[in-house]
Amino acid sequence: MAIVTTKEMFQKAYDGGYAIGAFNVNNMEIVQGITEAAIEQRAPLILQVSKGARAYAKHVYLMKLIEAAIEDAEQTAGFDLPIAVHLDHGDSFELCKSCIDGGFSSVMIDASGKPFEENIAITKQVVEYAHDHGVVVEAELGTLAGVEDEVNVSAEDSSYTRPEDVQEFVQRTGCDSLAIAIGTSHGAYKFKPGTNPQLRFDILEDVSKRLPGFPIVLHGSSSVPQKFVEMINANGGNMPGAIGVPEDQLRKAASMAVCKINIDSDLRLAMTATVRKFFNEHPDKFDPREYLKPARATIKDMVAHKLVNVLGCNGKA
Ligand code: G3H
Ligand code: 13P
Ligand code: ZN
Repeated sequence: MAIVTTKEMFQKAYDGGYAIGAFNVNNMEIVQGITEAAIEQRAPLILQVSKGARAYAKHVYLMKLIEAAIEDAEQTAGFDLPIAVHLDHGDSFELCKSCIDGGFSSVMIDASGKPFEENIAITKQVVEYAHDHGVVVEAELGTLAGVEDEVNVSAEDSSYTRPEDVQEFVQRTGCDSLAIAIGTSHGAYKFKPGTNPQLRFDILEDVSKRLPGFPIVLHGSSSVPQKFVEMINANGGNMPGAIGVPEDQLRKAASMAVCKINIDSDLRLAMTATVRKFFNEHPDKFDPREYLKPARATIKDMVAHKLVNVLGCNGKA
């Protein structure tokens, strides 16, 4: 199967009360770990590439790795794994255009830091080019809280998405999905230790009432599994107070209008924890295959857990 867009995936996810996992990819082991889990669980998948990932690995390498994963799924598992290839946090029309021209099936234009009218103008420009080329567009309204914000207690309401803006934004831009800010944040330090993490489901509910049937996206949705944080800290790392979004809240979001859930930090934690433990236990080893193999296996297990227990998209491919 060729790379697909997210259109059909999102429609089915919306109607079925589950979400698609959007996992960030930067190298071969990450692509393999994620896709092996998706093949085993028969889960549709979004592999997303950031500007930084493109700078690190080069567009062509990531594209070929993803194409190889699709071919491998056909050959080894004997079925077509639907994979969408998505630009994560595109910050300009030129970057989005380059990814569209380079074979991505979906792009995000993230102009959420700009004033409303500017966000609309740049999103509209990307939508026009993307739709002419059969590519779908994710946009963003509202800004995700920073790692240092006290999301639970004192985050300014202005950083959350304002439900009263969403209809006008979607109508005027023609975007295909919308990322909203309801209390998640990027990275491994999402909430203050000792507080009770709580996403703003009231905002999600209000947004989905105003946009019936429209796919909503959640960024910053790593759960920061404590077993990885503990492994990192026990093996020379130093990540005190790393806390993520509780899995049950992500599950709830997936059962509502959220059709895409973004995960990157958990992949980094899984890989880093495994590699740190390996080096601690085997200070004499230096063959990258020996430490990247268990790192890939940890990613696979972690992703499989999410597909089944958090996203609920297993068996949907
Ligand atoms: O939301 C950001 C993603 O985690 C990508 O991070 O820009 O370091 O590749 P990156
Ligand atoms: P995390 O840092 O929570 O994994 O979020 C990733 C993300 O939103 C990528 O766009
Ligand atoms: Zn993000």
